[in-house]
Amino acid sequence: MSSSRRLGIHCAVLLSALLLQACGGGGAGTGDTPTAATTTTAVTTPAPVANRLTVSTSLFRETALSASGRLSCAVCHTDETAHSTASLVSFPTGGPNMDQQVPRASPSILYLQANRPFNINDNGNPSGGFNWDGRFNSRAQQATGPLLAVNEMANADVAAVARKVRGLSYFNDFVSAFGISAQAGDQLIFDTLLQALETYQQQDPDYLLFNSKYDRFLDGTTTLTAQETRGLNIFNDPNKGNCDSCHTSRIGPGRERPLFTNFRYAALGLPRNSAITANADNNFFDMGLCGPTRTDLTARTDLCGHFKIPTLRNIAITAPYFHNSSIATLTNAVEFYATRDTNPSRWYPTVLAVVDKFNDLPVQFRTNVRRTRPFGQNAGDPPALNSQDIADLVAFLQTLSDERNAAPGAATVP
Ligand code: HEC
Ligand code: HEC
Repeated sequence: MSSSRRLGIHCAVLLSALLLQACGGGGAGTGDTPTAATTTTAVTTPAPVANRLTVSTSLFRETALSASGRLSCAVCHTDETAHSTASLVSFPTGGPNMDQQVPRASPSILYLQANRPFNINDNGNPSGGFNWDGRFNSRAQQATGPLLAVNEMANADVAAVARKVRGLSYFNDFVSAFGISAQAGDQLIFDTLLQALETYQQQDPDYLLFNSKYDRFLDGTTTLTAQETRGLNIFNDPNKGNCDSCHTSRIGPGRERPLFTNFRYAALGLPRNSAITANADNNFFDMGLCGPTRTDLTARTDLCGHFKIPTLRNIAITAPYFHNSSIATLTNAVEFYATRDTNPSRWYPTVLAVVDKFNDLPVQFRTNVRRTRPFGQNAGDPPALNSQDIADLVAFLQTLSDERNAAPGAATVP
């Protein structure tokens, strides 16, 4: 959230939705241990839990939690970019001296509330999980990654994090808001920090604003232009964009608003990005689900190259695109879908007169790459999307940007 003025607006809205704990009305937050002074005096008394969102927001922005003293969650997930990497930064840096590359893009972390723990169904198909390879099962668990990774906040261990938390000027607010003792041990302080970071992502209204032009269109309170409407139709048409088959655009069975992801995985065969330092080694490949960052699915070579399908909400403000930041602009991203197979030499280098298609995967795994619509043509065929279709799709995608300074919309469509 960007200002205290907005806190007021959002609290009024949230109070009406009875989410009292988010705004200081008292009552325990989701899954939290209630402290004293809860229900009976709920609305009138500013109970300790009232501070949860405030304290959690401070922790998300707290650079003192990093070894460098310069890195916080918010530095890699900025307000201005729907909580993805800062504008036009391809790869964040971290480590004690802030000079180590993080070799993936920070995705937007908005609209993840409905995501589930990582799961492989009876057909062997993965879904859910956090990060591009789904290796964490919750947002609380995910936060251990950046806090301890040597190229991110670079804390040596749980004790080092706990020491930094104890040193915060608002440590007392933290312990009272989360109902733990000021004498709590390292592990409890660490676990409570994880809980706080998850609380922030659950309760800050920015994370589920649902107030984009497309949402208002679904509500029937605004109309799309002719071009945006064409873009929506192409997005949903199985023979054209077919985007909706992965990036869900339709209202759910319980009238839930679409999240523009089905939380599954797919291999798109993106071009290799030489800006990734690890890629200087020709034998290094970031293959998502099958590793090497993720380590438990190395035997599932059919999943090499599969990455999580991200939400497309706010996509117009999160450039560059894809897990390896290999595509610079939104128009280019849509053009990649349109011409990956019809004009591969635009996207991949030519080596000894042969286009090295899907060059960010070892040769033996390139058959994992998706070839159904909008893909699947032969080189030289007309693309599934012409230049007008591409412009229309981009116009539609621009309707998915939230109004950051307006009140949130409801999570369901009336
Ligand atoms: C140095 C930059 C950096 C910092 C600091 C950082 N992140 Fe991230 N974040 C990333 C990157 C990169 C990814 C994707 C990682 C991957 O796929 O391996 C990510 C992924 C995530 C995800 C998963 C999103 C999804 O779609 O599954 C969440 C949630 C998240 N970060 C929250 C946090 C929190 C909370 C903090 C602070 C404790 C934090 N991040 C600190 C860069 C950063
Ligand atoms: C088969 C499933 C599938 C289909 C169909 C699909 N996408 Fe995607 N989309 C993905 C996956 C998976 C990623 C992330 C891939 C990666 O980074 O390796 C992605 C990423 C994106 C991104 C970049 C997101 C970001 O945060 O960087 C954009 C933009 C996008 N898709 C738009 C579209 C459009 C437009 C269409 C239709 C023309 C479409 N997608 C069709 C699976 C799909």
